[in-house]
Amino acid sequence: MIHELTNPVIKTLVNHLRETQTDALRFRHILHELSRLLAYEALKDDALEDQIITTWQGERTFGFIKEEDLIFVTILRAGLPMIESVTALFPKSSSGFLAMKRDERTHQSVLYYDRIPECKDKTVIVLDPMVATGGSLCDAISVIKGKSPKRILSLNIVGSPEGMDILEQKHPDVALFIAQIDEKLDEHMFIVPGLGDAGDRAYNTVEAP
Ligand code: PRP
Repeated sequence: MIHELTNPVIKTLVNHLRETQTDALRFRHILHELSRLLAYEALKDDALEDQIITTWQGERTFGFIKEEDLIFVTILRAGLPMIESVTALFPKSSSGFLAMKRDERTHQSVLYYDRIPECKDKTVIVLDPMVATGGSLCDAISVIKGKSPKRILSLNIVGSPEGMDILEQKHPDVALFIAQIDEKLDEHMFIVPGLGDAGDRAYNTVEAP
């Protein structure tokens, strides 16, 4: 299930990411904002659990998202800015980290670090700004599925139609929320028009042309 967001605020923020003059600090800031907006959308139909809290009028019962059941898993390195803002929304959630690098020659993802907490019966929300071929995200989801979560959601910023097709084929049970599906992949498997390499943009490692 692919959900592309249509909100003009989201489109405006994505288009600022495309601008080369958007520096690393602002780039990460926009990733923070977009991640929050994606999280609102992804969780908008979630049930609230009643909790008794102490208010200025004494003990009252109110509904809360059960944030202890949320695990945010980010794919390093470009997913790192995304996890900061969503875990700030849910301080009782847990976090997990997968380090993957896309081999620029074969375009295959290579997993080299896996630090994910116990996922049984939890909601795992995967965070990666870019879905190009979809290889990294599909592999990350396969790793997470091996840990028996209750459900998996994916929050992404920009993707290609090709990447969306692969996700739907390989993981039709995963709900993916994305800010923008772009036109296509180029011959180097980069998203067009895209943003460039999100990890390089976020951490100032863009090489001069
Ligand atoms: C980028 C991006 C995704 C992946 C997408 O990471 O953050 O993880 O590529 O490509 P795919 O859909 O074709 O697998 P990259 O490998 O550039 O690493 P980085 O985050 O360290 O920059």
